[in-house]
Amino acid sequence: MSSEKIKFNDTFLFGKSGVSPSRLESLSERLDICREWLLELHEKMELSFLNLPFEKNALSDLQKLVDTIDFSIKDVVVLGIGGSSLGPKAIYSALKPPYYDLNDKVRRVHFPDNIDPASFKALLDYLDPDRTLFLVITKSGGTAETATQFMIVWDYLNSHFDKKQAIEHLIAVTDPEKGSLRALVNEYGLKNCSIPQNVGGRFSVFSPVGLLPTVLAQLDAGQLLAGAGDMASSFRQGDVNHMALRAAGLFYLLHMEKKCPVHVLMPYSDAFYDTALWFNQLWGESLGKRKNLQGEDIFVGPTPVAARGATDQHSQLQLFVEGPKDKIITFLEVSDPGNDLEIPRVFGDYDSYSYLAGHTMGELLKTELAATSLALNKAERPNCSLILEKVDAYNLGQLFMFYQIATAVSGKLYNINPFNQPGVEQGKQYTYGAFGRPGFETEGKVMNKFKTGFATDSAKK
Ligand code: PA5
Repeated sequence: MSSEKIKFNDTFLFGKSGVSPSRLESLSERLDICREWLLELHEKMELSFLNLPFEKNALSDLQKLVDTIDFSIKDVVVLGIGGSSLGPKAIYSALKPPYYDLNDKVRRVHFPDNIDPASFKALLDYLDPDRTLFLVITKSGGTAETATQFMIVWDYLNSHFDKKQAIEHLIAVTDPEKGSLRALVNEYGLKNCSIPQNVGGRFSVFSPVGLLPTVLAQLDAGQLLAGAGDMASSFRQGDVNHMALRAAGLFYLLHMEKKCPVHVLMPYSDAFYDTALWFNQLWGESLGKRKNLQGEDIFVGPTPVAARGATDQHSQLQLFVEGPKDKIITFLEVSDPGNDLEIPRVFGDYDSYSYLAGHTMGELLKTELAATSLALNKAERPNCSLILEKVDAYNLGQLFMFYQIATAVSGKLYNINPFNQPGVEQGKQYTYGAFGRPGFETEGKVMNKFKTGFATDSAKK
């Protein structure tokens, strides 16, 4: 039977500065239409993120691929950016024990997720090529950052190995047919797996994009899919109060009618901070759009913000409580932190220490979450909690699927296309122009006039 193990406590989204229950009720017909629309897109095979957890052979096929690696892997490096890196990175950092990467003796997965030459070179210098596997993950096959990482790694591998050995240290994850990486796979006979064509970058965490690094990290990909599958199934069952529909509806009303365009995700758990960064991309890139579906300018979209409790109580919280009344804060609460530490009965003569003694660190963290939520409510700041039993693959799978459904539904409510990202194209084209890529001469001229910064100077050389 399908179930949602994670819970959504939305009490403080209602009330004086929040939504009225009747207003949410009046949105229910639209929410129902959103669900039908999303299911129909899946039936027509235009989308398939809801179906990914049910792909029968997905994990066994990946395991077979991993079994073909004929050396003992110590380090795995994911070459990719955006949706091709944030999801697996969030899985890895949530499910590996804290500070796992400090252990030099275990297999580790690295996510450079950038083109900063300082950190990328440091990573290459650190690696033992004989025991490193590189995953090149890019749906389009030609993203400049990933292409650059891959070209450097190609050279690195070919300087250590002969041609045949070099490709043994690579697996490509890309479109099944299109793009330059697919062409390179065919030309060089690279090991590879495919991202289904109807799965977009930021909705690809349950495709090989998220699963291959998870399998290589020896994490429980099966439970991740089980959690996601249960969330997808309960959504399909048609309850208008499904937590993802309800959350999307409430966030939408708070944005459009209560002027709360800033959406903060604040896990009170170190494990989920990278999940908040994954959410940033999903929410921001999907919902920030200039045009509606009729092609009119509407310049819409909530601004996602990642925060961490309790850390950001001493940083951003002042702004959340007393700054503009334009935010919704979503807490991620973990019921069982797995480990806890008792606060010892020391320094009994000091009032500002003694009241802590006898409690646990976990108790303090949870109490601070509750206190922050109450304080925000008192200051008339809408806030809510997603409550996870514990940090495990099943709960994380539920959480990812919850947010993907909520994002798609929100797109429909905003009347925009949540699956494209036209706004990032112009910057890419200026970069192509600066680097002299054929077809982008006009952009190159614009860049040449704009004579600041390293990129233009180096491009002219
Ligand atoms: O969500 C998206 O589609 C994008 O953010 C992509 O994930 C990102 O641009 C990387 O693209 P690609 O996987 O094609 O390299």
